[in-house]
Amino acid sequence: MLSFSIENTIFAIRKLSMIKREDIEKIFDACRIEEVVGDFVKLTKHGADYVGLCPFHNDRHPSMHVSPSKGIFKCFVCGEGGNAAQFVMKHEKYSYPEALRYLAKKYGINIQEEVRTAEQEEQYKEESALLSLHEFSKNFFVDKLFHHSEGQDIALTYFRNRGLTDPTIKKFQLGYATSEKDALAQDAIRHGYLQDTIAKSGLAFKKADGSFNDKFRERVMFPIHNYSGKVIAFGGRVMTTGKTENNAKYINSPETAIYHKSNSLYGLYFAKNAMSKADKCYLVEGYMDVISMHQLGIENVVASSGTALTSGQIKLIKKLTNNITVIYDGDTAGVKAAMRGISLILKEGMNVRLVLLPPDEDPDSFAMSHSLEQMQNYLSDNEVSFIEFKAKLLLKDAKNDPIKKANILSDIAEDVAMIDELLVRAEFITHCSNLLNIEESAFAYAVKKKRRQIQEAKRKEREQAAIEDNTILQTYDDEPIVKHPRELLSQPINVLENAEHELLKLLINKGDKLVYFDEKDDRGRQKSLRLDKFIINDLSKDNLTFSNDAYRALFNAYLEELNLHPKSICKHLQINENQQIRDLANSLNDLRPKESPGWKDKHAVINTIDNNEAKLLEEAIRILQLIRLEWVKKKRQACLEQMKLPENQNNEDLIIQFNHLNKLIYKIEKVLGTSYRAK
Ligand code: CTP
Ligand code: MN
Repeated sequence: MLSFSIENTIFAIRKLSMIKREDIEKIFDACRIEEVVGDFVKLTKHGADYVGLCPFHNDRHPSMHVSPSKGIFKCFVCGEGGNAAQFVMKHEKYSYPEALRYLAKKYGINIQEEVRTAEQEEQYKEESALLSLHEFSKNFFVDKLFHHSEGQDIALTYFRNRGLTDPTIKKFQLGYATSEKDALAQDAIRHGYLQDTIAKSGLAFKKADGSFNDKFRERVMFPIHNYSGKVIAFGGRVMTTGKTENNAKYINSPETAIYHKSNSLYGLYFAKNAMSKADKCYLVEGYMDVISMHQLGIENVVASSGTALTSGQIKLIKKLTNNITVIYDGDTAGVKAAMRGISLILKEGMNVRLVLLPPDEDPDSFAMSHSLEQMQNYLSDNEVSFIEFKAKLLLKDAKNDPIKKANILSDIAEDVAMIDELLVRAEFITHCSNLLNIEESAFAYAVKKKRRQIQEAKRKEREQAAIEDNTILQTYDDEPIVKHPRELLSQPINVLENAEHELLKLLINKGDKLVYFDEKDDRGRQKSLRLDKFIINDLSKDNLTFSNDAYRALFNAYLEELNLHPKSICKHLQINENQQIRDLANSLNDLRPKESPGWKDKHAVINTIDNNEAKLLEEAIRILQLIRLEWVKKKRQACLEQMKLPENQNNEDLIIQFNHLNKLIYKIEKVLGTSYRAK
């Protein structure tokens, strides 16, 4: 009966933040700031502290200090600073709960999360089951490689013939899928994996008669890992050299709930530390390229697995470094085809360089036939800026054709315009105008024009994407708001306090009643949730809490009781040790006698809230949301007024955020109507 339709369309359902206080304390106890920061930034000892290049501005000398004793980091140039959680929030663009989960995982701390929506619960279960099955399958394939006769005789020999050492094979968890029809599926079932999970993983197909066919047979297996090292998919290669039509050289796992090809990069888990240390990433095409370069000692390398890089993949790289060098096989035909893809990397504001290998070599063969020093020298000697390479290549083609030359000028101007750093852009303008043999000022003008167009397009795109992704509010996760400073409120305080009062009244009197959703669960029953959990969900989703001190104290006490005595919360609130909480709980409790189960037929006991209460509930939550948005808007406005620099990325982001805020506020106001103001 109840559905906050706007909730479903505008507000993303985020993982909830009900991580227990004890767990948070455990996390911070275990955390060592220098280790947390050290995963992303190269730190060197400096007295009792550490220093490193600040990742939050374009740092040239180490200006970020990390103090193990105080547990904080601080950059003396850009002013960024905070504890370990704040560092990962800022660096990984995580929300606070996401940062806590990350740290908990890093330090092996089990956290209990209190509230998950039914839908999140479902999704979580599916993902866990798939991850577990992939871990199982990886071990299965590894075992076959080393212990099955086919594996030992053919597959292990194949890897060794390709020059891989046993430590490398073990490190990358390479394996072998035998020629048996359903060996993996059978073994997984024997170990208790559900047929449904197996089918969903794509590792085997269920046939009409209920039996399975394994997807991978007679192939050497390359597990694909996610950012934190869990196996999420596989690639499998035939061992024969010639490939036939229905026997592709490589086959790969399909997209699943845990594997999204466009958002994963082969080798990233093994490369990430080296990437941030070297501040550079090599991009190659294939599994073997990554593995062979690793074995040689070049570890900052990832593969796009044969396809053009997606913007999702570029963002993964960008978390670790801004410098990407694409290694191409020796034939230039492939390079021309890949040019478009590279423009995408430029668009993300990264520095793109390029290395061409000698004819008939790929990174794998080159690594296998050279020493580390030789390969390092080759890469650094032959590395050219992408734009320069492209300009030269195009110019060679155009010869003296004036129309072609004009097109090249516009094309290159567009690439240069994508470079975000002013100084680097200026360098390229000088350099390319020389190459193209035109006046520097004319080329600079062309770049400037392109840049304006790009920024306009970017703004529109981001605005659109944010609206479509329903991620608008997430932008404000970094505002850990617990209280609204009253002087900043544009609504009269009583509007907010009324809403909070209504919400608390509902919580105290109807907290254990059920709220029904329009969706059905998989048994066809209408989904439902306790009202108190529903309210907590909704508030925590938007980092909201009560602004009135007394209300907030009662709300927090309620949360505690919900953990301890979910069946008799009110009774326990009325004996709370804090008198203010006791009194408030009593005064909010409407003392109408409750119908007792014996009085009517058991089934007639009202276990839900009525329409009127549902309306009150929605209105109260909306008002809290609205006021929070207005508060954030004020803060953004103040920031905007301080900044007057043109061409400033932050400035642009702020304007976009500002517009989103206005749209959201408008939408919520429309739902609320104007009546609430009059109260
Ligand atoms: N690839 C794929 N499916 C194919 C062919 C290729 O997924 N049918 C991906 C694989 O990730 C592969 C990469 O594209 O590693 C590059 O393919 P290719 O150049 O054909 O193979 P190599 O990496 O050279 O593989 P190998 O050295 O094992 O022959
Ligand atoms: Mn190869």
